[in-house]
Amino acid sequence: MDDLKAKYLGQIADAADENALEDIRVSAVGKKGEISLKMRELGKMTPEERQVAGPALNALKDEVNSALAAKKAGLADAALNERLKTEWLDVTLPGRGRPAGTIHPISQVSQEVQALFADLGFSVAEGPQVEDDWHNFDALNIPAHHPARGEMDTFYMHRAEGDNRPPHVLRTHTSPVQIRSMLDHGAPLRIICPGRVYRADYDQTHTPMFHQVEGLAIDKDISMANLKWVLEEFVKAFFEVDDVELRFRASHFPFTEPSAEVDIRCSWDNGQLKVGEGDDWLEILGSGMVHPKVLEAGGIDPADWQGFAFGVGIDRIAMLKYGIPDLRAFFDSDLRWLRNYGFASLDQPNLASGLSR
Ligand code: PHE
Repeated sequence: MDDLKAKYLGQIADAADENALEDIRVSAVGKKGEISLKMRELGKMTPEERQVAGPALNALKDEVNSALAAKKAGLADAALNERLKTEWLDVTLPGRGRPAGTIHPISQVSQEVQALFADLGFSVAEGPQVEDDWHNFDALNIPAHHPARGEMDTFYMHRAEGDNRPPHVLRTHTSPVQIRSMLDHGAPLRIICPGRVYRADYDQTHTPMFHQVEGLAIDKDISMANLKWVLEEFVKAFFEVDDVELRFRASHFPFTEPSAEVDIRCSWDNGQLKVGEGDDWLEILGSGMVHPKVLEAGGIDPADWQGFAFGVGIDRIAMLKYGIPDLRAFFDSDLRWLRNYGFASLDQPNLASGLSR
């Protein structure tokens, strides 16, 4: 018994790894192990012999088992320590110099416009891009079969077979947010709504998805003069110049009366777009006094309230401000373009330090 004990405890102590330890376990206390076989011999002994040998064998088996378990834990610890020695990482090392991502000019310009109008007391409103027919058209005084519906190059969503309700549309402008805001908040109201809009159109200055920011101010005694002042202030502050030449062109929108489109003086010499000089004009926004029917659709009484509204093409004014000649490049996700035209991600536009620094 003492020999067995010395033999196995010695082997266990010397075991180099878990495999060796497993072999020792099998040969000592496995089904056909030496100690297990000895225990089977107990049956052949006399009761007196068994009384001595039984407990001694059991004690030996227990001792070998606990030595095995202790050694196993020790080996696992040692293996872990070995791994930790090779797999460590110095978290105090500086990061790898990966080029930082940039803010897309559209995001930058949206933020600039929001910072600017926040300063004029406008808050930001939002609406869905998949819009229903009523908000996108009817409530804006564009009834079914009105020619303006055709002019919008609208993308229609599919309706299930047999569903005869008018289809939803990808909103063709941000003007439906006017209606949603009027219904939600009533008058007085001063909001801008930046967001994506969709029209089936594609050339150097048109993409099927583009961005607008809608403006809406409703109060008592609002006139065209307020509209003109706000737009001039906006354009001057946005382009960060003291003077910009704007052209207010009489126009027509079903949802405003009277209506004006606003162009900005620019030049396109050698494919370079410059603001404030040259003989060209680029249309940047549509505007006007909110049509009484639109106020009514928004639950506001036109006998008591008036308002002005405008819709600016964000992509257009981004092209102008940052000299980007082709609108389509905005949406190509070309990394070289993004690095060239993108903005530092930690600079927040604000009026105090200059919108674009
Ligand atoms: N919704 C018009 C458009 O997309 C722009 C506009 C907005 C005009 C508000 C007048 C008033 O063309």
